[in-house]
Amino acid sequence: MDESVSFVKQNFLNAFGESPSVVSRAPGRVEVLGNHTDYNEGYVLSFAVDKGVWAACGGSTTEQIKLLSSHYGDSPITLHETVPQKENPWTNYPLGVYAVLRDNGFPVRPFNMAVYGNVPLGAGLSSSAALEVACGIALTTLFDFQVEPAELAKHCQRAEHTFAGTHCGLLDQFSSIFGKKDHVLFIDFRSLDHQTIPLPSHNLCVAVTTSGISHSLVESAYNERREECARAATFFSRSDPSVRTLRDISPERLMSAKGALDDTAYRRALHIVGENERVLNGIQLLRQGDLVQFGKLLHQSHESSRVNFENSCPELDTLVDIAGMIEGVYGSRLTGGGFGGATLSLLDWESREEFEAKIREKYTAKTGAEANVYFASVDDGARVVEP
Ligand code: GLA
Repeated sequence: MDESVSFVKQNFLNAFGESPSVVSRAPGRVEVLGNHTDYNEGYVLSFAVDKGVWAACGGSTTEQIKLLSSHYGDSPITLHETVPQKENPWTNYPLGVYAVLRDNGFPVRPFNMAVYGNVPLGAGLSSSAALEVACGIALTTLFDFQVEPAELAKHCQRAEHTFAGTHCGLLDQFSSIFGKKDHVLFIDFRSLDHQTIPLPSHNLCVAVTTSGISHSLVESAYNERREECARAATFFSRSDPSVRTLRDISPERLMSAKGALDDTAYRRALHIVGENERVLNGIQLLRQGDLVQFGKLLHQSHESSRVNFENSCPELDTLVDIAGMIEGVYGSRLTGGGFGGATLSLLDWESREEFEAKIREKYTAKTGAEANVYFASVDDGARVVEP
């Protein structure tokens, strides 16, 4: 049995004196291309990775929910009320999922749960979505009801909005659910249609490099970007009510608004419109196996983040610059929300040792901070592991 499964089952047994009825697993995700496009109803390429969250779950005979995380202490936390928690903020993710499912009429009841995760925290791999999805899947199995996977992603997103207070898009939960081993997931966030595209080369290596930087205002900066994008969309919808979001704006139309739209909103829109274009081009390049051109799109994406969306930071720029100078690297960019966090780099398998050594050495020399490189395998989406 997978070590992580035995570990989380043992934790459950130690805490609750019986074996869990269900064990689920949900992966972290990497955003490949399509930055901040999800809440603008645009396009994204992403995949799920081999690091994730395992949730062991069983029914309770009491009216309380009891949660244990191997990251946060040895004894379970008992929750008496289904309201957002100020203490032990991590409990908001499972509790939020439970509350949203219950409020949507699903037959959930109080439960006991032990969770274990190996997604690096604060690395931009969305450990929080993995926790929500693992919890959602465990509860549907434990209480024996069906939820369409895309609906489950939305319930998990709602939990994050209402319990954790982050107004994220749907990318993280969706990727954790629909990821496919050795495939890139293409998602249209207007229709929620999605397809998978095989990774073009078995020689391809995926590196996620954490910058060690986490912006203290990351949530407010994220929400501010959302508002700026909405402001840009409103500018267009005033004269054309068919415009709902920046998804409806072509590059030409945006360009014709330069000067009329305020500069900040214009640059935010330029990023989103450009990202949508890059994703659509990127799909063709992946299908043709053209990693060289695909890699260039990653660099363009980062540049646009740096200049237009202003969600990069000097440390992420340094990581991307160093990666760009290493032979065998196709492309590199910040991944996820930005304002710190991690970069994604695509490289040849043979370059991985040199990549790790150079990144670590040069990054520390330049910034004084420490970078960590994690070579990810592209994995399947969430599932029930037991029974
Ligand atoms: C975070 C959010 C996602 C998405 C990305 C940026 O990861 O949770 O919904 O907006 O940032 O693309």
